[in-house]
Amino acid sequence: MVHIHDRSFEIYLKSEDIQTKVKELAHQISQTYADKDLVFIAVLNGSFMFASDLMKSISIPCEISFVKVSSYQGTNSSGRVDELIGLNTNIQGRDIIILEDIVDTGITMNKIYTYLNSFEPASLKIASMLYKPDAFSGKHAPDLVGFSIPNEFVVGYGLDYNEQGRNLESIYKLKES
Ligand code: IMP
Ligand code: MG
Repeated sequence: MVHIHDRSFEIYLKSEDIQTKVKELAHQISQTYADKDLVFIAVLNGSFMFASDLMKSISIPCEISFVKVSSYQGTNSSGRVDELIGLNTNIQGRDIIILEDIVDTGITMNKIYTYLNSFEPASLKIASMLYKPDAFSGKHAPDLVGFSIPNEFVVGYGLDYNEQGRNLESIYKLKES
């Protein structure tokens, strides 16, 4: 059990299981993109741990670049999406994989996907560590998913509750009070 701000969270996905899954995703990507011009676009802040661990197990040439967007406050999606900033890599004609920590309603991903697609990449795929299919109402579901989870609030492994909890190696879910 961990306490963050005013809430308690209980263990949900253990660090070892996350590491195993991330390596699986990395191997899958390494095979699929062996003869491609692979560029990861990681969405900050939440995806930093996922992006870092995933990259370490990629066995083919690749690049990484980071973009930033902010759309979330507290434990309910606000529906507000800010502009995307920070893309400093030419992605036209290249094979792009967006790296996200979690796809919830899909509103954020709609924005990111549309923005990146406007630069005319050769291909554009989405890899998300977590996916909440029951909450999703977007246009672009993740192509690669670490874990599909129920519609519950989680923290750890890059994910925050009001900016804290990102440092946790495992993923924890909100404990009903
Ligand atoms: P969406 O636009 O509803 O898909 O939300 C995407 C963003 O909301 C993610 O990139 C996260 O930053 C945040 N988010 C969604 N669900 C959770 C959660 O369970 N814990 C922490 N952050 C979340
Ligand atoms: Mg995020």
